[in-house]
Amino acid sequence: MPQTNRQVRLAARPSGLPRPADWEFTTEPAPSPAAGEFVTRISHVSIDPAMRGWMNAGFSYVPPVEIGAVMRAGGIGRVTASENDEFAVGDYVYGTFGVQEYAVSDGRGVLKLDLSLADPTAYLGVLGMTGLTAYFGLLETGRVKEGDTVVVSGAAGATGSVAGQIAKIKGCRVIGIAGGPEKCRLVTEEFGFDACIDYRMPHLRRTLREMTPDGVDVYFDNVGGEILDDVLTCIARGARVVICGAVSQYNETQVRGPANYMMLLVQRATMTGFLVFDFARRYPEAMAELAGWYQAGRLKSQQTIVQGGVEDFPETLLKLFEGVNTGKLILALGDAADS
Ligand SMILES: NC(=O)c1ccc[n+]([C@@H]2O[C@H](COP(=O)([O-])OP(=O)(O)OC[C@H]3O[C@@H](n4cnc5c(N)ncnc54)[C@H](OP(=O)(O)O)[C@@H]3O)[C@@H](O)[C@H]2O)c1
Repeated sequence: MPQTNRQVRLAARPSGLPRPADWEFTTEPAPSPAAGEFVTRISHVSIDPAMRGWMNAGFSYVPPVEIGAVMRAGGIGRVTASENDEFAVGDYVYGTFGVQEYAVSDGRGVLKLDLSLADPTAYLGVLGMTGLTAYFGLLETGRVKEGDTVVVSGAAGATGSVAGQIAKIKGCRVIGIAGGPEKCRLVTEEFGFDACIDYRMPHLRRTLREMTPDGVDVYFDNVGGEILDDVLTCIARGARVVICGAVSQYNETQVRGPANYMMLLVQRATMTGFLVFDFARRYPEAMAELAGWYQAGRLKSQQTIVQGGVEDFPETLLKLFEGVNTGKLILALGDAADS
């Protein structure tokens, strides 16, 4: 039986990229469930750009992670002990379990995984928050329709790759933006986008304008910054700019706003931020549709899985900002991930 629970806690609020000194590692006795609770041994930790925002003080859509608290993280794992009738030992579950080896829960916000549909890790990606984010961002906020020209940044990443694939399923012409020729190859050959622009090459704006002579109807933006400004110059009349995230700005001490926002006026366009959590009541419906596409082979799942322990979390988080990952970045926790 396991005796200890290794954890990663926030030690300080970073300025810029998180540094090793911003983290603290602790070891506690592994928890036991009280009445109504169960314990999960976490096998895979979801690594998300949003984590960087959760480390900051100040107002946001969730409270900041407190100094000294276990770092917030989504994860999956197996139930190892249970005093809760809904969750049995051996069940695979998803929840916001934190960066640690074991988590105790009363079941609120925890989802049982249907392994007949997909491997457990798919529930951190295409069938999890990532897939849901792409789904609602594109279909509800972006209101895509057949024939639209859709541009997706962060196109080789977890959310972007799914957003572009859904846009293809909906009959759109889809152009990705990603960092480097290898990622662009993946975006077109594996994820089936019509084209992909390497933003590290010069003249992104000119290239995009040439590729979209009738303008961009929907821009699904994961990165913000200069790329958002470039795409704004190419939007069509009535375009929908979907602010899913702005990963290029998360480590900046001075966030850059869009300089070209007057294009919204010129083109009678909208730029709308959205949060996947606002659609929580519709998750079952969206998951059913995503699972259907996945099983039919119309939606491909890609993951970058880093093997390690919780002490590898700080370095793994940085990989997102270095663009190391394709698809969903996941930290697999040693033995728990193998069992
Ligand atoms: N609104 C919501 O409810 C919601 C929910 C989940 C996620 N999100 C947002 O969705 C976005 C994507 O998240 P994800 O989990 O799918 O991550 P991801 O796209 O899998 O990983 C991040 C990617 O961002 C790119 N990147 C990093 N720094 C960049 C920079 N300076 N400029 C341009 N690109 C950069 C890298 O790809 P390249 O190599 O191509 O640069 C990297 O692989 C994030 O902004 C996240 O905050 C929003």
